Amino acid sequence: MEKKVSVIGAGMVGGTCAQRLAEKELCDVVLVDIIDGLPEGKALDLAEAAPVEKHDAHITGSSKGYAATAGSDIIIITSGVPRKPGMSRDDLLAINSKIMKDVVSKVAKESPNAILIIVANPLDAMCHVAFETSGFPKNRVMGMAGALDSARFRYFIAEELKVSVENTNAFVLGGHGDTMVPLPRYSTVAGVPITELMPKERIDALCERTAKGGGEIVSLLKTGSAFFATASGAVQMAEAILKDKKLIVPCATYLEGEYGINNLFVGVPVKLGKNGVEEVMQIKLTPEEDAALKKSAAAVQELVDAMKKLG
Ligand code: 2OP
Repeated sequence: MEKKVSVIGAGMVGGTCAQRLAEKELCDVVLVDIIDGLPEGKALDLAEAAPVEKHDAHITGSSKGYAATAGSDIIIITSGVPRKPGMSRDDLLAINSKIMKDVVSKVAKESPNAILIIVANPLDAMCHVAFETSGFPKNRVMGMAGALDSARFRYFIAEELKVSVENTNAFVLGGHGDTMVPLPRYSTVAGVPITELMPKERIDALCERTAKGGGEIVSLLKTGSAFFATASGAVQMAEAILKDKKLIVPCATYLEGEYGINNLFVGVPVKLGKNGVEEVMQIKLTPEEDAALKKSAAAVQELVDAMKKLG
């Protein structure tokens, strides 16, 4: 393939990202992990499925360092520990920030022109680590959260109204945590805002389920967190960049004054194309929506401050 994407972390999210990238024939894939044999094994297994799945993407694995990732167009970083039942994403701050620093310093050296898509939690804080460690410009460092949270909201809307998921559109802004901000006014079915299609208490229930969607899966799986939809979100972003689609999707992006937020990664709608985040889309918010976004940004800022204290 013409393009190359490296996926760091060959766990459930990383393995599923590799599968989706290859099966969509978007790029060659390099899967990396520190666990001996894991990325090589998953890559070989995926490659052996290729004749049946009818794709010609090359998939390779490496547990022996990052040399194989050299010259990647995109690097999806899933490395880190997932949460267990009862944990919040924020409980992973200390351990995952160390892992993120180590990984980013190595991949940035091998692929100085790559675009980084961060998936590890706590997402927004991990984007800061990646941004500072890589020294990449802000358009080339972004986090995958809004794509997943919006997909969850869309699924819940489709299920509630018994319509095709394809008819739905949804926006979820803010940090990827309990304070995330689903926006019903901008969430639609065939172009009609859901505020005109269901009563307020049902909308509130779907928003609440969306905000707690990650935790719902963790409590069901017990040994890990969501990975199918998580990988779908990351690959949706990668595809938009590889194909220069100019797709509008909410992503964690570095804000410098947009939405009145400064020097912070927060989820807002952006335009994704070959240069990464090509534009931050500024949509009008009501005073209540704006207050909820600011509250969510404050929660991200708290985490970033806590991380600075950790050193
Ligand atoms: C989730 O929301 C893993 O944070 C991810 O499920």
